[in-house]
Amino acid sequence: MTQFARISGTGSALPPKRLTNADMVAMLAPRGVETSDDWIVERTGIRARHFVDEGVFASDLGAEAARKAMAAAGVAAAEIDLIIVATSTPDMVFPSTAAIIQHKLGISGCPVFDVQAVCSGFVYALTVADAMIRTGSARKALVIGSEVFSRLLDFDDRTTCVLFGDGAGAVVLEASETPGILASDLHADGRYVDILCVPGHVQGGQVLGDPLLKMDGQAVFKLAVGVLEKAARAVLDKAGKTEADIDWLIPHQANIRIMQGTARKLKLPMDKVVVTVDQHGNTSAASIPLALDHAVRHGQVKKGDTLMLEGVGGGFTWGAVLVDF
Ligand code: UT7
Repeated sequence: MTQFARISGTGSALPPKRLTNADMVAMLAPRGVETSDDWIVERTGIRARHFVDEGVFASDLGAEAARKAMAAAGVAAAEIDLIIVATSTPDMVFPSTAAIIQHKLGISGCPVFDVQAVCSGFVYALTVADAMIRTGSARKALVIGSEVFSRLLDFDDRTTCVLFGDGAGAVVLEASETPGILASDLHADGRYVDILCVPGHVQGGQVLGDPLLKMDGQAVFKLAVGVLEKAARAVLDKAGKTEADIDWLIPHQANIRIMQGTARKLKLPMDKVVVTVDQHGNTSAASIPLALDHAVRHGQVKKGDTLMLEGVGGGFTWGAVLVDF
């Protein structure tokens, strides 16, 4: 009898165009926007990010990550019976990016939908897929985080445009008699909608309001460290585990200083933290599965490891999932 859901394969995708901090400095200078490699590295830990070319969408990156995850799991597309995509940069207003990815993978019939929880999207999506597998609604799910945040950036705003990048990560989550997803803890507080948002909307054939990303970085920073510690402790309690049981902390990759603060509070050395923000920047809902796949393929995360996945972002949303890998 199935009681659990287990990650059986991971995959990721990055667009080929890579911009270092020096490339960003050169790109922004003609606009009169001043920044520097020193500032970006010191305040964020970011050294490079990837941007998609014209005509490439979240569904393209998501489908590529999904194909790699299915290959790693030894699962054929025809066996997939659920697709959940975490994204805040969908290809279209509707239908869902999940439906577009389903079509690109050459399958049809299974339920597919998007989850919109910004940078917490992947932990939300993983929690929903876990619940659907436990209740018998699915047996082999694709859970994907895919983003093209470069499309939302205001390149006249140096406080945000150097922080984000594009990418996708995916896992195959399968019904299993052994755990799997051990516990999850999700939250949101809509009082903080304004501190991280893209306020525009579509109406009558036009975009009304500003369709570019706005962030009060300091407000987000302060909230993030506190809620990430609380969510981590909540999932450990639910699973009957302690910090000492964590082999790898895989936090949302927004800022190295937030990751260091969270690790310190959980008494984890930084060599137990998967860090990819230096190479990918903040890829929102894609950052956790992208970091997970990176760590698996570089031999850091191994079968049997206990992983703490943690997301935080717009909404304000946050959450954690504890995983036996
Ligand atoms: O994915 C969702 C989660 N998002 C996050 O977790 C982001 C959280 N916030 C952060 O990571 C940080 O708050 C930032 C990286 C966004 C900003 O770092 P900070 O240490 O909070 O800097 P600040 O906003 O206090 O700005 C310090 C100075 C300011 O100059 P003055 O007013 O002191 O003269 C800014 O104008 O740094 C200036 N500044 C820059 N300088 C060079 C801001 N952006 C830049 C830049 N290059 N790109």
